[in-house]
Amino acid sequence: MTTLLRIDASAQQQDRSLTRMLTALFTNELLHANPDAKVITRDIGKDPVPAIDHRFVHAAFTPPEAREDWMAGRLALSDALIDEVTAADIIVMGAPMYNYGMPAALKGWIDHIARIGRTFSFDLARGDFPIEPILKDKQLVVLSSRGEFGFEPGGPRAHLNALDPAIAACAHYFGVSTANIHTVAIEYQEFKDERHERSVIAAKDATRALARRFAQVSETNDACVPAG
Ligand SMILES: Cc1cc2nc3c(=O)[nH]c(=O)nc-3n(C[C@H](O)[C@H](O)[C@H](O)COP(=O)(O)O)c2cc1C
Repeated sequence: MTTLLRIDASAQQQDRSLTRMLTALFTNELLHANPDAKVITRDIGKDPVPAIDHRFVHAAFTPPEAREDWMAGRLALSDALIDEVTAADIIVMGAPMYNYGMPAALKGWIDHIARIGRTFSFDLARGDFPIEPILKDKQLVVLSSRGEFGFEPGGPRAHLNALDPAIAACAHYFGVSTANIHTVAIEYQEFKDERHERSVIAAKDATRALARRFAQVSETNDACVPAG
């Protein structure tokens, strides 16, 4: 059975948020094509995770067998969030552009996911690249929206795009390789003109196509699971 983890990071409510509209569309299309899929929702826009602090870092970098009770408590939310990522085959992430980067809520979520011993290992015997991801083989669908436009590679605002590269840099913590990141972005939201309308239509089409593609892939994978 396929498990989809839906993350929403917009600070806006469902009826005003374009990224929530796209994550809902993706989820509904996937469920329509694959009704057996399980969906986990995590709304960090509505219920942001707290920023990590010195107690979190102290607890995270203390080996599990040496942890005091308060450390387990401080890591409980992180453990729950990591369990959701671990369970997922596909992560669909509503990721608005805020001040050219990711919303603080999304950064806070990533700070809870990137955990030594749970989502990455660290070994200086590996030389200059000591970090290795622990999770693997997941798909990430990033559904974004921007007020301006031209943030794609080669675009007039490519140099300002601190959102997509930051998600890509951290994706290995979610078990996602660069080839398995699929990004759809609405643009021109602040212009509210026909370019924005065209962008919304194109993004909806691309989102539906991705959902159908992953529903087919997951059905094929499910069919390949040996019975018993
Ligand atoms: C706090 C805030 C910061 C924003 N910063 C940017 C920005 O740096 N660049 C941009 O193109 N749009 C920016 N926007 C516009 C949003 O990216 C756009 O409204 C998008 O649709 C928000 O996603 P949502 O509709 O899911 O809430 C910003 C909007 C907000 C609310």
